[in-house]
Amino acid sequence: MVLAMARRSLEQVRMPDVGLAELMGADPDRAERLVMRVADLRVDLSRQPVTDETLGDLVEVADACGVAAFRDALLAGDRVNRTEDRAVAHPALRAPLGVAMTVDGRDVGPEVHRVLDQMSALADRVRADGRITDVVNIGIGGSDLGPAMATRALAPFAQPELRSHFVSNVDGAEIAAVLGRCRPESTLFVVVSKTFTTVETLANARTARDWLVDALGEEAVADHFVAVSTALDRAADFGIPADRVLGFWDWVGGRYSVWSAVGFALMVAIGPDSFREFLAGGRAVDEHVMSAPARENVPLLMALIGVMHRNLLGRSTKAVLPYSALLDRFPAYLQQLDMESNGKSIRIDGSPVEGPTGPVVWGEPGTNGQHAFFQLLHQGTDVVPVDVIGFARPEHELLEQHDLLMANLFAQVEALALGRPDAAEPHRRFAGGRPSTVILAERLTPSVLGQLIALYEWLVIFQGALWGVPSFDQWGVELGKELAGSLGDAIRDGSLPVADPSTAAGLAWYRAHRR
Ligand code: F6P
Repeated sequence: MVLAMARRSLEQVRMPDVGLAELMGADPDRAERLVMRVADLRVDLSRQPVTDETLGDLVEVADACGVAAFRDALLAGDRVNRTEDRAVAHPALRAPLGVAMTVDGRDVGPEVHRVLDQMSALADRVRADGRITDVVNIGIGGSDLGPAMATRALAPFAQPELRSHFVSNVDGAEIAAVLGRCRPESTLFVVVSKTFTTVETLANARTARDWLVDALGEEAVADHFVAVSTALDRAADFGIPADRVLGFWDWVGGRYSVWSAVGFALMVAIGPDSFREFLAGGRAVDEHVMSAPARENVPLLMALIGVMHRNLLGRSTKAVLPYSALLDRFPAYLQQLDMESNGKSIRIDGSPVEGPTGPVVWGEPGTNGQHAFFQLLHQGTDVVPVDVIGFARPEHELLEQHDLLMANLFAQVEALALGRPDAAEPHRRFAGGRPSTVILAERLTPSVLGQLIALYEWLVIFQGALWGVPSFDQWGVELGKELAGSLGDAIRDGSLPVADPSTAAGLAWYRAHRR
């Protein structure tokens, strides 16, 4: 029902009939009118190729797709993850105690806050007793990217005596390097896996366990491991005592889970109070999403503008460019959030989608990206919409460098939008007309980081609803996992697979040359 309607009304969206430069020149008020607020974020949409009519029409597309009803069903704890028959209730993780959040008709608030208190008590103990100097988070995908990105982003708020490490890749090079920098007696491992079946995580966790047991004996495991999972029994089988297993629930998707006990390593780093500020930041965006009219609903407008780029203007990628070295993992985090959610080609009812869905998301912090791929952004044949993120005040004292950083941010979005179309030599010409959304906040605090993440979560959820795709499953990663399992056997025992002669030849070469 949803996409067909969306396509019909999408085609009727009135697009501006002049370029971005002209649009901006003819209407200086845009700079005020198209700057939106959500909590502490200033979101500038004025360099997007939209008029008031365009936005009005896009909002009608959202109405036609039933986006508001989908949001309300999600927030009511209905099973909107239909392909897995589950609720999608991660906003409950950032709701204050006393605000009822129901899943399948049951208030989950008390359980959420019980785990939050359990995490806080454990994190406080680790931070206070001084014996632990290194915290190693072992997890992958949503069990790594959220805590890794956020711990890096909030490093200025972290306890300096505690070092955080993140091990995700099954490539032993990663854990070998981390263990090389740690001492068994002062290391805490946090094994994070929603399912506790993920091969990479279990392989790394076993390596960590062996390393610890070799040095300190079996009895040290209880003190030096914490597990985070929805599968409490599997975590217990790994040998982690029940009081050190932090639970969460199947209604929290992996890529939406940083707000849960999956964020434990972040909490240890920045402390429970700052972690609660982080949650409050996410909650502030939820409140905006629940109450702002569609025309002022910032994640919805960003989602609609993204759909416009993807479905009306044929733009297949989107770059996210934080002008903050501390946000260097943010693009990778958004890749999972967006591409695992909306990289789908069938709709919720199983029918094929009729047009493009989720874009390829990529990016690097400015100013580094400027000296790498910005050439293509300015003069390449593909137009890449960009989101640019910056802060008024840095968490360090090199203020002149910060001014330089921000001058670059403003220079780039101006150059992208206005270009230099009349330069004498063709190779020096910049066509301009390249769109950007600029997100600014005063500081990158725990609350502001929570706001940024929730902003993009809602953007992705709204886009999934607009496209009618099942944003909360990830069946697309299963086939590769299955094949890796059987090919692992083939590597060990030499039984060659028959399905693909190229694979057979490659494996034979690998067996001949390994070790
Ligand atoms: O790669 C697929 C995936 O299931 C992600 O969605 C998830 O975040 C990641 O693997 C890790 O899963 P788990 O937390 O169960 O180990």
